[in-house]
Amino acid sequence: MSVESLRRERAPISDAAPPEPQRERRMRARSGAPVSRVLSVAPMMERTDRHCRYFLRLVAPNAFLYTEMVTAAALRHGDRDRLLAFDPSEHPVALQLGGSDPHELAAAARAGAAAGYDEIDLNVGCPSDRVQAGCFGAALMREPERVAACVAAMREAVDVPVTVKTRLGVDHDDSYEFLCRFVETVARAGCETFIVHARKAWLKGLSPKQNRDVPPLDYARVRRLKRDFPSLEVILNGGLKDEATALAELDHVDGVMLGRAAYDDPVLLGRLDAAIFGHEPVPIGDALDRYFEYAEREIAAGTRLRALTRHLMGAFAGRPGGRHWRRMLSELPRSEDDRATLAALRELAWNLVERNVRYSD
Ligand SMILES: Cc1cc2nc3c(=O)[nH]c(=O)nc-3n(C[C@H](O)[C@H](O)[C@H](O)COP(=O)(O)O)c2cc1C
Repeated sequence: MSVESLRRERAPISDAAPPEPQRERRMRARSGAPVSRVLSVAPMMERTDRHCRYFLRLVAPNAFLYTEMVTAAALRHGDRDRLLAFDPSEHPVALQLGGSDPHELAAAARAGAAAGYDEIDLNVGCPSDRVQAGCFGAALMREPERVAACVAAMREAVDVPVTVKTRLGVDHDDSYEFLCRFVETVARAGCETFIVHARKAWLKGLSPKQNRDVPPLDYARVRRLKRDFPSLEVILNGGLKDEATALAELDHVDGVMLGRAAYDDPVLLGRLDAAIFGHEPVPIGDALDRYFEYAEREIAAGTRLRALTRHLMGAFAGRPGGRHWRRMLSELPRSEDDRATLAALRELAWNLVERNVRYSD
């Protein structure tokens, strides 16, 4: 496909009409909970890179954002500046670390805090083989003392909060008592915030992708954790896909974290931000406009177009022209002139925004 044909394309009017805008405004923070973690976007490898976070910040002015997991070893040996880069507009933003060595994690946390991150989160939930080999991620749930030592070392190294993202259990270690023992031990080391993906991890036999869907969700267990540890901040994650459920869960926990739903449908994230923090949702056209300006600057600085546009796939999810938009993005022309392609995409986005406005009139 050429830039010209992209420009000429008119989006077919075949997709579903947009849902009714969410008009309800309310601040649902549980008393005592820092408002900033009431809504957050999950750390996701290959997704929540700095470009993605820049876009999501435009859509959701208050949501807490998380980086992809960065291993402590990568920060020690790799290109630290590149791994830690973020835009000031991303605040509040947390750096998620992977690792199991207290000294290495402390050094990584120090680097993250020095770079300006608002929180350092430790990944105790990732089920991938690669991660198990290094003995971190979900496998660490079986070693609460070690996690506690890591948290203690990280807290010692930084002034910003150190949090833990975990699961309900691992393999057959899936009792509520197992979870409580883990939380209690790690909390004693000073961790006050637990983000709980409300399903256990099956380390043997399920791929990381299956591990995000196959083990059943159990929100009741996360609610119970909050009831039993009222002084801890408990954030619920996993399978939240609509506003009503997310808002209802805020009656029971301190915050909700959305992963795939926020990425696949940023408008949903924007509506949740608006409902929780009491403002009008940011029109997707405004967010896209500002993102395209950012993309122009990034392209001028040498960033590849696709690295910038791949996070926009969901911008019109479930709305007229959404399928067409996705197809355009996935078939971007291989052009010498990324700026021309970007300008054509911007025009298409305007076209779609106009149509969506007409649909929602
Ligand atoms: C593509 C992808 C990458 C992920 N990478 C990470 C990661 O780096 N660190 C982490 O703690 N969880 C990671 N997760 C898990 C999410 O943070 C989240 O716990 C999970 O997707 C469940 O939430 P959701 O149903 O709202 O998506 C990833 C999930 C996806 C889909």
